[in-house]
Parts: sequence; C-alpha cells; structure tokens
Amino acid sequence: MAVYQTNSPEETEQLARRAGEKLRDRDVVAYRGGMGMGKTAFTRGLAAGMGIGGELVSSPTFAIINEYRKNGRRLCHFDLYRIDGYDDLYSTGFFDYLDCGAVLAIEWSENIEGLDVLPKETIWIAISQTGENSRSIQIEGGERFENLGS
Ligand SMILES: Nc1ncnc2c1ncn2[C@@H]1O[C@H](COP(=O)(O)OP(=O)(O)OP(=O)(O)O)[C@@H](O)[C@H]1O
Ligand SMILES: [Mg+2]
Repeated sequence: MAVYQTNSPEETEQLARRAGEKLRDRDVVAYRGGMGMGKTAFTRGLAAGMGIGGELVSSPTFAIINEYRKNGRRLCHFDLYRIDGYDDLYSTGFFDYLDCGAVLAIEWSENIEGLDVLPKETIWIAISQTGENSRSIQIEGGERFENLGS
C-alpha cells in the first residue's frame, strides 16, 4: 500500500497521471472517499496517463457512465452515487463493462461494496481531506503504484 499527499487539484491530477501510466486494460480502480474529495480530478489524471486526453473528463454523476477512448485504449468512468442495490447496478450495464477490456474507474464504490462484485485484483484508492486543499491518497494495488513520486 502507498500513501501520497497532494496540496492542490493539480497535484492530484499529476499523481494520478503517473498512476494512469501504470494501468493495464481490464484494471478496475475503485474509489473510497466522500463528496468533493477529488475522485473526478484523479480520474482526469488517470485518463491523461493512459494517453486518452484527461481534459475531457467530467463527472458522470448524471450519466452514471462516461466512456473515453483513444488509440485503442478505453476508460469507463462510473459514478455510482445514485445506485442502490444489485438490480440497479445491473441495469447500468456494469457487468458488461467489467468484461469489455476497458479500464474501469468507479466513484462511490461504497454503494456496491456489500454486493461483492468487484474483482479481487481491484485497485483501491481512498482519498481523505487533510486540509482545505490537501488530500491524503492511499493506493492499494501492488508494487506498480508504489514510488509514484511527488
Ligand atoms: N488536493 C486536492 N486534490 C483534489 N481536489 C482538490 C484538492 N484540493 C482542493 N480540491 C477541490 O476539491 C474538489 C474535488 O472535486 P471532484 O469533483 O474531483 O471530487 P469528487 O470526489 O469527484 O466529488 P463527488 O463525490 O461529488 O463526485 C474540486 O473542487 C477541487 O478544486
Ligand atoms: Mg466525482
């Protein structure tokens, strides 16, 4: 497990960009952390690191899923804030996305935690606030995500 501190949204995006460079197709990234912690900002960085053009990434709160693709790479960005229960999750197409070869980034994974549907290799990212513009970002996903620098 690796823990990083960032002191601005830009620093969070930079850190996430370096994490995004390590991602492989079919990886699942699941976030823990409440409202306004920086999950969407982090996902923007992941997309940039994957070479998908992070500047396009916005919150999928209303769409539930936003999908980005470029150069054969694909990122599916979920916001499960409004999802409640298995049937609800199923109706988003979540299980098809799990098998589609894309990288998945899942905000509000807390809402599906009890359903036990995430792969055991899921990369967990927990973000907590340590000051107005500072965040502690914990990445649990193996060696790849250690020593990402600062
Ligand atoms: N160090 C930081 N890292 C990331 N965001 C920060 C940081 N400091 C301040 N912020 C601010 O926190 C907010 C993070 O917003 P963002 O949409 O990324 O959060 P979120 O976790 O996706 O929220 P939601 O649960 O509503 O989807 C932005 O307004 C950003 O400017
Ligand atoms: Mg968000």
